[in-house]
Amino acid sequence: MKRFLLVAIIALTSIFKSVAEEGMLIPSLIKAFESDMQAMGMKLTAQEIYDVNNSSLKDAILHFGGGCTAELVSGEGLLLTNHHCGYSQIQSHSSLENDYLKYGFWAKDKKEEKVNPGLTASRVVRIQDVTKDALFGTEGLQGLEFSNKIQKNIATLVADAENGTHYTAKIKPFNYGNEYYMIVKETFLDVRLVGTPPNSIGKFGGDTDNWIWPRHTGDFSVFRVYSNTSNEPAEYSESNVPYKPLHFLPVSVKNRVPGEFTMVYGFPGKTEQHLSSGNLKFYMDQERPARIKMREKSLSVIDAGMRSSDAIRIKYASKQARIANAWKKWIGQIGGLKTVDAMQIKLDREKVYNNSARGQKDWAMKYGSVIDDMNALVEKYKDVEFGYSMAIEYLYVGPELFGRARAMNEFLSAYSTLEENGELEAAIEKQIRGAKGFFKNYDENIDKEIFRLLTEEYVNQIGDGPLPDILKENSAEELTEIIYSKSILTNEERFMKFMNKLNSKSLDKLKKKDQGFKVWSGANDTFFKEVIPDVRVYHAQMEELLKAYVAGRMEMFPDEKMWADANSTMRITYGKLEGSAPHDGMKYTEHTTIDGIIAKNNTGNPDYELLPRMRELAKDKNYGDYAQDGELWVCFTGSNHTTGGNSGSPVIDGEGNLMGLNFDRSWESTMSDFMFDASRCRNITVDVRYVLWVMDIYSGAKHLVDEMTLVK
Ligand code: ARG
Ligand code: GLU
Repeated sequence: MKRFLLVAIIALTSIFKSVAEEGMLIPSLIKAFESDMQAMGMKLTAQEIYDVNNSSLKDAILHFGGGCTAELVSGEGLLLTNHHCGYSQIQSHSSLENDYLKYGFWAKDKKEEKVNPGLTASRVVRIQDVTKDALFGTEGLQGLEFSNKIQKNIATLVADAENGTHYTAKIKPFNYGNEYYMIVKETFLDVRLVGTPPNSIGKFGGDTDNWIWPRHTGDFSVFRVYSNTSNEPAEYSESNVPYKPLHFLPVSVKNRVPGEFTMVYGFPGKTEQHLSSGNLKFYMDQERPARIKMREKSLSVIDAGMRSSDAIRIKYASKQARIANAWKKWIGQIGGLKTVDAMQIKLDREKVYNNSARGQKDWAMKYGSVIDDMNALVEKYKDVEFGYSMAIEYLYVGPELFGRARAMNEFLSAYSTLEENGELEAAIEKQIRGAKGFFKNYDENIDKEIFRLLTEEYVNQIGDGPLPDILKENSAEELTEIIYSKSILTNEERFMKFMNKLNSKSLDKLKKKDQGFKVWSGANDTFFKEVIPDVRVYHAQMEELLKAYVAGRMEMFPDEKMWADANSTMRITYGKLEGSAPHDGMKYTEHTTIDGIIAKNNTGNPDYELLPRMRELAKDKNYGDYAQDGELWVCFTGSNHTTGGNSGSPVIDGEGNLMGLNFDRSWESTMSDFMFDASRCRNITVDVRYVLWVMDIYSGAKHLVDEMTLVK
């Protein structure tokens, strides 16, 4: 009887357990999950999701700008992605006169669509397991010999795949080199901006709500892919025509049913599920807190500036969003990892692994010490890794002076060659153009304050670690005053004057006397000479250990569901439409409505500012055909395992229709990059019915809705 009860309880809990499924699956292997997905309510077949010989869902999903995901939704190349994914394009077309950030933009016809130099969108043609061929002839080789052989194999495979096509092929290691896959892509080069809602919709909630549920952000923007007249990728040209996709997603305006199947198809960037306990501890206790602190300093300056003037608000909008995003995510990750006691979970898992490995001779040899080795390696190199992270924060996320210095340094290094080749004038022109673009989005006082605060903090954090003399010998205060009154890199007028009277003598003076340049070159040299070489060694050794560790997992625990960490390649993840209850005594519902937008606006927080039209439409309950039971849904959550890069990814229903655009995760679940927890892990999606409502009812761009195929 007792036994029967136990069995019944286990059966019941597995029925009622959250069906959140850990894992970011490789589309070409999706057949293995077909029956599980169908049991959860999916009506599609594996072949309809991914197929190489016939069109399939995959053909509607594009890698957008290399960092986000987008989906085709019409036969004329209409493309949806997040507002924050198109943000730098939207910002670059904006000015005080045409403030698209504030008021939005909608092209009335194709002629008004805006060209975005450099922006690409690529389609995956096929994904192929090439492990055997990539590893061919590497048995017994080690170190450099091993990697040289692999690189040679890869080069041949890539050349063969690309030969005679307009495709590009790339081979990437999966599971830390236990496997290799080739991804063949077709990259479109003419991607135009069609429309965007105002920030008060597309970025509604700003940083207050970023990473937070309940959420009310209409995080979408609209682009169109153009091709040449043979439907192939081409650089922008007036003669280009809208691309005709192999497949585009029908758009579901059906009622949503909590518990229904959802699938997210996209390009997740990076997860680190296999970090050792020592590594996790280092991140949680030291590395992330220090990075968070650095960013807090920049943000305090930028935020105050943006509140003080519209010009600064526009200049810094995109930069601010970039800095704040990871900052807030890290805070959420540490919080979540602490709440579930991730360290203890890791340690327990490591014990199980070690016990298993040490219980058998052959395994003991291969895997018995791998976890200890990983932890020892972290210990040995943690100052190096810390120095690396701090330098990234200082040199690449910190004061913009450094970006200018970097550009000038490249120019300096090329100077004599340019002069010899008679190309100097053109190069100067180019520098001036680049600098104009730079200073357009720059404010001297803001950068000055950031430089002062971050220099102080950087020196402080590095302590006895490697620092350039200039930072050891001068206070941040002194350097700041000199640099921001004298350096040519921090002031447009000084810079242009310098460029107009440029000669080899003045360049020499820049190198030797300009304190701004000297701080950069000092810190940069230290970084590349004293930090990077050690970091390379560290990362290479860690990769080796991770390779062995994962191989051990596969060999010793063959029944465990394994998935390869995200690596910016195309993946599928599935779950269901559901809320969560990550805090004691409260529960998150699975959807939000327009009423919540008004309620948040009523708080007076500037992140919830609206244009008057939203309040009017909400008051009249003017929901068009887009409501469900009298409510206009704005966002919903699902138990799909996603990460950065999944932004813009379609959330697809059981029939292959678009339900919404993934754009975020709840704060409580950002820890899933390191450890997945089915009860907390929720992705946040803007309902496509709200997207259609914003286009049609709010913005009067019904012609775009008419272009799509709506499924009722
Ligand atoms: N957190 C989301 C992601 O990681 C959205 C970021 C954009 N929004 C913002 N308020 N910064 O990209
Ligand atoms: N906003 C993220 C992105 O840009 C997605 C959120 C996440 O990290 O899950 O990809």
